[in-house]
Amino acid sequence: MSGRLAGRTAIVTGAAQGLGAAIAQRFAREGARLALVDYNGPGLAETVAACGGSATGFEADLSSADSTRDVIARIFGQVGTADTLVHNAAILIETPFADEDFSSFFKTVNVGLQAGFQFARALWPTMQTNRGGALVFVSSRSGIEGFARESAYCAAKHALEGLSKSLALEGAAHGILSHTVTPGMYMKTPMSARNYSDELKAKWVDPMRLTSAFVALAERRDASLSGQRLDAWAMSQSIDGAETAHA
Ligand SMILES: NC(=O)c1ccc[n+]([C@@H]2O[C@H](COP(=O)([O-])OP(=O)(O)OC[C@H]3O[C@@H](n4cnc5c(N)ncnc54)[C@H](O)[C@@H]3O)[C@@H](O)[C@H]2O)c1
Repeated sequence: MSGRLAGRTAIVTGAAQGLGAAIAQRFAREGARLALVDYNGPGLAETVAACGGSATGFEADLSSADSTRDVIARIFGQVGTADTLVHNAAILIETPFADEDFSSFFKTVNVGLQAGFQFARALWPTMQTNRGGALVFVSSRSGIEGFARESAYCAAKHALEGLSKSLALEGAAHGILSHTVTPGMYMKTPMSARNYSDELKAKWVDPMRLTSAFVALAERRDASLSGQRLDAWAMSQSIDGAETAHA
């Protein structure tokens, strides 16, 4: 298999639809082997089929710590370890704080932080041994700003920002890069369809147009990017623009 990610193995969470499905399909086109995770079985099967043979789907509910542990064991058993993690799965259910309850709050935090921690922790030892790896946590403006009715989502994304900064510092000695990535552009995804106004929907773009950034991070071309919060749209525009100019 040729491509910029030939020989690479990546885990992509939240791959049944939206940005995760676009990243999975782009990584497959670039030659990566893939373990794709989602709790939406039919959507996951569609992405696996669209990846054309290089992907294996793993159905799991990442809001549960036990099922996250179980799916990691299944991935390691069937696909092996991976050199790239894109932790993209998330839920955003806008809720006034007065209506928020412990269980739904922690469901959102678990999909973001708990699953991000467990995947990164499981991959860490082989990344250390192999002296390389890319941990990519999909974040949001909600990772650095507060928004009303998003207490759980903001808490989860802020926590991922902190986790990633810490892992970047510890990973530097081992060639492990850790980043957060914010979309940086309105994306046409099911999450956006639920939450965007008509005005935002008029501006949204195919999430595939944000995927060059993720390929570059999986390639680990630039260690100086570790520990940063990156903008997928700006990065992809600059990569794609430069490639078009040199074509
Ligand atoms: N859409 C936006 O405008 C926007 C803005 C900023 C950040 N983001 C982030 O970008 C990423 C992708 O967003 P999207 O718009 O494609 O979202 P989406 O809702 O369309 O897709 C999210 C995926 O995560 C999966 N998922 C959710 N809960 C899960 C669970 N418990 N277990 C397993 N899988 C689960 C869903 O099934 C889905 O396939 C997310 O991390 C989101 O927070 C999105």
